[in-house]
Amino acid sequence: MDVAPPPRVGVIVVAAGSGTRLNAGAPKAFVGIDEHTVLRHALRGVFAGPYAQVVVVAPEGYEGEALTDLHAVAGDRAELTRVVTGGTTRQQSVAHGLHALWPGVEVVLVHDAARALTPPEVFARVVGAVDDGAPGVVPVLPVVDTIKRVADGEVRGQVDRAELGAAQTPQGFRRDVLDTAYAAAEGEHTDDAALVAAAGHRIVAVDGSPLAFKITTPADLERARSLVVPLPQAQVSPHPGVDALPRVGVGTDVHAFGGEGTLWLAGLEWPGEPALSGHSDGDAVAHAIVDALLSAAGLGDIGTHFGTDRPEYAGAHADAFLARTAGLLSEAGWRVGNVSVQVQTLRPRFRARREEAEAALSAALGGAPVSVAATTTDGLGFTGRGEGVAATAVALIVRA
Ligand code: CTP
Ligand code: MG
Repeated sequence: MDVAPPPRVGVIVVAAGSGTRLNAGAPKAFVGIDEHTVLRHALRGVFAGPYAQVVVVAPEGYEGEALTDLHAVAGDRAELTRVVTGGTTRQQSVAHGLHALWPGVEVVLVHDAARALTPPEVFARVVGAVDDGAPGVVPVLPVVDTIKRVADGEVRGQVDRAELGAAQTPQGFRRDVLDTAYAAAEGEHTDDAALVAAAGHRIVAVDGSPLAFKITTPADLERARSLVVPLPQAQVSPHPGVDALPRVGVGTDVHAFGGEGTLWLAGLEWPGEPALSGHSDGDAVAHAIVDALLSAAGLGDIGTHFGTDRPEYAGAHADAFLARTAGLLSEAGWRVGNVSVQVQTLRPRFRARREEAEAALSAALGGAPVSVAATTTDGLGFTGRGEGVAATAVALIVRA
């Protein structure tokens, strides 16, 4: 597997608050939503987002618990993580997190652990807007209520809600902008965007998500609990026993010839054959298998985990994709039963290397059997004309 480059994005997850309003007997980030803490859920969104260094800011005395959650979610990316101790205000906690960022980090996201169910696409949108040139970025939700100005029990006027947005996190910043704004900050600001705006920088708004709500009160915690009921269990209640069944998934992928270098297909390098084009090596067989496995486990699809915002997968080969996919399934409590894949292509001729391909793909999945069949299409369609490769995979997975 390729060695991952140092990340250019850093995520500071502030989790050092005491949770006074939640009043649940432990600091808010360490209260359970289901069998997992608020922090663990928040970190799932963080790690499903863009490839990043992740710093958790924990309350004093809870650094060990924070590390446990971090390592459980980070898996083989644990070397990208750190835990630091928080301060008495959120702003101080962010400042402690900033000091722990690596020098190579150019884009910083600051995220409230309390927004535990924030979907990965919000992280991607924020990083995207910073990359497009914004010094600071805030995800916002439109305000749905009619807003009144109220003083001394009397309505004094109405605010046009079209002008309003409710600020969420992660908020994203150019690293130099955030560093200098924090160094110059006077007094407490309500959020990082306010602090950076006070230093004279432009703040761009992107779409937030209703799921990025902040767990503040016991009612918010109840709402989070109702949202994290695992989907398979919710679906099986009318059908007892379904949970014990294996699951199947299907995946397809197509890549065109026209890439650089040599062909990589079905986990093998094919010297002398034209390369496929794609963000990675264009190995349609491996990508179809990844989609089949993720779909069987209900874990989204290849774009969810290996999108173009994951530079470490640019040019990566089947072994990296398949090993990470098997790891994702294992974290979710699944094991690969078997995989069957059919590839349609004029070239290369698979007959001589079919078993070699099966062995390579199987090894990348930790030993689960993989069968590969290859066919041509009688001159019909894009595969028949030799313009590209199409692959279809079916996977069976069982409870680990
Ligand atoms: N936070 C922090 N350090 C602090 C205060 C807050 O890291 N000194 C973090 C919280 O852990 C939370 C986020 O900032 O993830 C937003 O703060 P808030 O929702 O106010 O959390 P708490 O301060 O923990 O809650 P409360 O205000 O009810 O005590
Ligand atoms: Mg607070």
